[in-house]
Amino acid sequence: MTATGQDRPIVEFDDVHLAFAGVKAISGVSFHVGRRELFAVIGPNGAGKTSIFNVLSGVYRPGQGTVRFDGTDVLRLRPHAIAELGVARTFQNIELFANLTVIDNLMLGRHTHISYGVPAALAWFGRARRAELAARAAAEDIVDFLELEAWRTYPVGLLPYGVQKRVELGRALAMQPKLLLLDEPVAGMNLEETEDMARFVLDIRDELDIPIIMVEHDMGLVMDLADRVMAVDFGEAIATGTPSEVQSHPDVISAYLGQESMS
Ligand SMILES: Nc1ncnc2c1ncn2[C@@H]1O[C@H](COP(=O)(O)OP(=O)(O)OP(=O)(O)O)[C@@H](O)[C@H]1O
Ligand SMILES: [Mg+2]
Repeated sequence: MTATGQDRPIVEFDDVHLAFAGVKAISGVSFHVGRRELFAVIGPNGAGKTSIFNVLSGVYRPGQGTVRFDGTDVLRLRPHAIAELGVARTFQNIELFANLTVIDNLMLGRHTHISYGVPAALAWFGRARRAELAARAAAEDIVDFLELEAWRTYPVGLLPYGVQKRVELGRALAMQPKLLLLDEPVAGMNLEETEDMARFVLDIRDELDIPIIMVEHDMGLVMDLADRVMAVDFGEAIATGTPSEVQSHPDVISAYLGQESMS
């Protein structure tokens, strides 16, 4: 039976293959993500984790496989169209406008939701003005939600690293996404910043009801937050299950040998 509507997974990623000039970045990876799930992807450096995100968001086009978001085949869509469907992401390396304030970065994040013609925008009335006000109100809501009040008018480039990562999360939220892709949200953070980020990630899933796929090396965070985990190695999914099932899987343990410790 084919699942429909609310029963249907938000993401159906099936038998995806992606290669770069002979390098197999993804080799037959399949996973489904439910509408209330926090799904983590782990694996050693170069395993193909970011490539999976790049396929989901339309940046890379796989040679084989099917990828559906909310029932829609996204492989024929360009990245901006997939973003408009509701897929938002944060990046492994922060991608923000360093010279703009927190509020302005958050308002720019919402641009897919501001739709008015150039004449209306120039004349600055009617729809354009209403859209601008709505964007500002939404940005202020995100400032509250992510506890960014103290920083709201600072240029992002001057902020501590952990706060910049939080602003990037806010920029993704400003798109009012139906799915959030977080690529190493706590990489480089200290313990306090990591704990703050963990709390916000859980709040997004539980209070905003947004399913999340999170790539993360911090095994403690994955164990604490994820409902299910997929481990990848050399482009292949080697184990998928609960965090404890995956952490104790022999193939996962051997994939991490010689890598950083998993605890
Ligand atoms: N645009 C590209 N061109 C060529 N090779 C690429 C490209 N993107 C990724 N690759 C290769 O695909 C493989 C998987 O890379 P990917 O960035 O997905 O790994 P990752 O799991 O995110 O690693 P990390 O933990 O270091 O971020 C690597 O061998 C990488 O060099
Ligand atoms: Mg990566």
